[in-house]
Amino acid sequence: MQQTDLKQIERSAIQRVKKAKSFDTLAQIRAEVLGKKGSLGLALRGLGALPSDERPKAGQAINDIKKKLEFALQEAAVRLEGRRKDAALEEGRCDVTLAGRRIAPGASHPLRIVEEDIIEALVSLGFEVVDGRQVEHDWYNFEALNIPADHPARDMQDTFFIGPQVVLRTHTSNVQIRTMVKQDPPVRILAPGMVFRNDDVDATHSPVFHQIEGLWIDRGANFADLKGVLKKFATVMFGAETKLRLRPSYFPFTEPSAEVDVTCIVCSGKESSCRICKGTGWLEILGAGMVDPEVLKAVGYDPDEFQGFAFGVGIERVAMLRWGIDDIRLFYENDQRFLKQFSPGGSS
Ligand code: FA5
Repeated sequence: MQQTDLKQIERSAIQRVKKAKSFDTLAQIRAEVLGKKGSLGLALRGLGALPSDERPKAGQAINDIKKKLEFALQEAAVRLEGRRKDAALEEGRCDVTLAGRRIAPGASHPLRIVEEDIIEALVSLGFEVVDGRQVEHDWYNFEALNIPADHPARDMQDTFFIGPQVVLRTHTSNVQIRTMVKQDPPVRILAPGMVFRNDDVDATHSPVFHQIEGLWIDRGANFADLKGVLKKFATVMFGAETKLRLRPSYFPFTEPSAEVDVTCIVCSGKESSCRICKGTGWLEILGAGMVDPEVLKAVGYDPDEFQGFAFGVGIERVAMLRWGIDDIRLFYENDQRFLKQFSPGGSS
């Protein structure tokens, strides 16, 4: 093969390599020029036909072309790989100058805040939190709490019956019974949750609302202990200046029983026109009392050995007093303008 033919093969191959746009094209050029049946391969095989004094020079020329072509192919492969990476980057490109999407952080509902604050205050006194059933058997909601069927005390809580003996619980006091039938004394529980009554909706009543129940049973637990627990609760919820007032009351499951008031956090009893305490200076927040011996007997405790006290707080009412909210319905309407006021970021 003539030198000019070899030069021609070299030039055309290198040009094709430079223009190649894919790895497939490079492989094709390699096969066509460097492969066994490729043009340089044929030239190598043709060396034998040359006079012996011309063979080394011709062989050297073919090897030089092979090396140049190998180098050109490698260069082209690097170039194509670079382009492939650029294209991939371009495809997945993100514009870091675009304005971000604002994530609205969630926040606790005011009723949840009050519930958690009450729990935090009382857990330090040794209470533990337990869960209870919302759909309850009559026995746990009424009967075992000393409220027999057809007794006038049933009228205190207008009830949703969903079966002959099945009710939507009217208070969290059912958890007292559920706990005591399962567990021997001492008992020290808090039971928060939703309760249901067939009450008409108005500014202070809802047919679905929240309570938190407290129950403490032990040898010698007494009314002074109850007062101490309630004082701690009131101090944490309404401030250290808050005073408590216990008024005699009636619950079938406690004896003696009390309605518990705190001093008005809005006017401290100084304004006769205060819309929160209606000028009385006191706000009712919960019911409480010493657990009636009949209840202890119903769950198999010996009332001569164990005594205790219980209390039931209306969470909505506490939240209303704490923040001066005058309509209970605001808690359930999911109005962001209202709810945002209780989140850490405020109304921003
Ligand atoms: C009870 O439910 C008793 N189980 C509380 C109790 C427990 C007393 C343990 C003694 C020992 P009462 O019906 O008063 O009691 O309800 C307790 C609180 O729930 C009330 O003080 C009030 O804050 C709230 N409450 C009652 N009805 C409603 C209602 N319809 N909407 C919103 N809150 C209510």
